[in-house]
Amino acid sequence: MPQKIIFDTDPGHDDAIAIMLALASPELEMLGITTTFGNVALEKTTRNALVVRELLGKTVPVYAGAERPLLRERISAENVHGHSGLETTSPHGLSEGPDLQEPQGRAEAQHAALFIIQKVLEHPGKVTLVSVGPLTNLALAMRLEPKIVPAIKQIVLMGGSLYLGNTTPAAEFNILCDPHAAKIVFDSGAPLTMFGLNLTHQTLATPERIARFRALGTRVGEVAAALLDFFRQHYQRRYGYEGAALHDPATIAYLVQPDLFKLRPMFVEVDSTPGPGFGRTVCDYWQVTEKPANCQVALEADAEGFFELLVERIGRYR
Ligand code: RIB
Ligand code: CA
Repeated sequence: MPQKIIFDTDPGHDDAIAIMLALASPELEMLGITTTFGNVALEKTTRNALVVRELLGKTVPVYAGAERPLLRERISAENVHGHSGLETTSPHGLSEGPDLQEPQGRAEAQHAALFIIQKVLEHPGKVTLVSVGPLTNLALAMRLEPKIVPAIKQIVLMGGSLYLGNTTPAAEFNILCDPHAAKIVFDSGAPLTMFGLNLTHQTLATPERIARFRALGTRVGEVAAALLDFFRQHYQRRYGYEGAALHDPATIAYLVQPDLFKLRPMFVEVDSTPGPGFGRTVCDYWQVTEKPANCQVALEADAEGFFELLVERIGRYR
């Protein structure tokens, strides 16, 4: 029986690769894609989700959600994902890459948070929420209908970090986009699995790995390679990495092939107080607080196995 998931996302290059992986994996039944502000504004992340859906020839419904955080001002990451949030580039590093058609379809009328509530209550204990952007939609759903919290099967999220931040020294982008929402989710008691930067910086999309997508000889393979060629430029500039840290697909790979990762249960809380730690996921690795673990934290990845899965699944699109 395929696992029912709702994919909450701010596409975004790595989000797009995660959607490609999820929709090519028969182990998963994607009930819907919910979008949020994040890498770029909500209007663009929603457009990008529709673009990827149509590139893949799929009809999974898309629901637009939060256009801004609960309390703090909105931040974004055009410096990483480009103006549209889904810029591509040709293998020669020129600005033009395969052009992505404007979507024909539109998002559904229902708000993402209301869709999440509806589906979790329709299928109690069966729906996995996969979040790879700010956690605002999930927090809104939990506050609008607290009954969903015990009914959520699990939340698998890309966000936070065991130690280093990427947007401030302490905070990872998804959490920093809305620390108050993240605190609601991490304190909710729902079963959590966290893929933070400590994990996702182990899975680098290097030129050699990107070439494997291009070698598929398919439109989807070409687009995946072009997206990763663009995405990689930021990681070269900022970190001196040869490859792009491929963050979001780790959540999907975990659901499809969990043995690719090593996890450790621990107590994690979000710092939502003003100051240098704002947006930090404070991970009690050594259990010094003696607080019960509320989260499985991913520590190690089989990077080669991860890319083998990605290429094999994305190779299924024709
Ligand atoms: O910090 C990385 C995360 O922020 C990824 O989800 C990326 O898509 C951006 O949303
Ligand atoms: Ca994302």
